[in-house]
Amino acid sequence: MTRLVICGTGNVARQLFDAFQTSADVKVVQVAGRNREALAYFDKYTDTSDHFNNLRKADVYLLAVSDSAIATVAHHLKEGLVAHCSGSTSIDHLPESGRRGVFYPLQTFSQELKVDFENIPICLEAENEVDYKVLEDLALCISGKTYRVSSEQRLGLHLAAVFVNNFTNHLFHVGQTICEQKGLSFEILLPLIEETLRKINHMTPLEAQTGPARRNDIHTEQIQLEQIENKSYQAIYKTISNSIQETYAKEL
Ligand SMILES: NC(=O)c1ccc[n+]([C@@H]2O[C@H](COP(=O)([O-])OP(=O)(O)OC[C@H]3O[C@@H](n4cnc5c(N)ncnc54)[C@H](OP(=O)(O)O)[C@@H]3O)[C@@H](O)[C@H]2O)c1
Repeated sequence: MTRLVICGTGNVARQLFDAFQTSADVKVVQVAGRNREALAYFDKYTDTSDHFNNLRKADVYLLAVSDSAIATVAHHLKEGLVAHCSGSTSIDHLPESGRRGVFYPLQTFSQELKVDFENIPICLEAENEVDYKVLEDLALCISGKTYRVSSEQRLGLHLAAVFVNNFTNHLFHVGQTICEQKGLSFEILLPLIEETLRKINHMTPLEAQTGPARRNDIHTEQIQLEQIENKSYQAIYKTISNSIQETYAKEL
């Protein structure tokens, strides 16, 4: 049985806590956070603390706090294996004096939407094989997918994640705005979005691309650009269209 303390009470802390609660091999012995109101969510299931000094003894301390707070909170932890959950923070941000690691779940988490951890990749890093195995065993209690990822690889992975998740989601928002300006519901685009995702399970994104920029259809691009009022959306349209044209320049 792995004894676990979770530091932090936000999106990731809640989702991890709920997932570990379903495992017979992990006991979350404490959740610590500076926000008493947020700790109330965990109060009925485990011990909670509103400070990070003298936390309960545990095998692993998971830091699910904002990236900027990782080093500060970690300095309070004097024993056990301390792992942060951040995509873009090096393992070196944790104090050198202790056992340190990374437990990065590659998914987008919000408090309102519960996720199923089974298929969420958990990217792990540790400084020796013993600690790596501790984190791997912990991850396998909630997910079937663990990956050994170095701090340098994780920086790149997080960057890739920003492109495929945050930027794509922003483009969904732009699409919704344009639909609504024309009196249409965003719902009408959902089958197209679903097919876009289904396709990349069967071919590469490079092969899957269609549309005016790939065909170098300058006439359609001009008509579309003229419809966009928002300057920043115009710039996005031009930049992405140019990037698509450069990507397929050889075949045009
Ligand atoms: N959200 C995602 O999709 C996602 C995915 C993978 C990994 N991550 C990583 O997971 C970690 C947590 O992210 P999150 O989305 O759960 O963030 P979040 O919902 O904003 O929660 C942040 C937590 O950190 C605490 N905190 C902030 N500053 C602090 C400080 N100076 N001292 C002590 N505690 C502090 C907050 O406490 P207060 O409530 O008091 O501010 C809160 O409990 C981050 O490293 C993030 O990069 C996030």
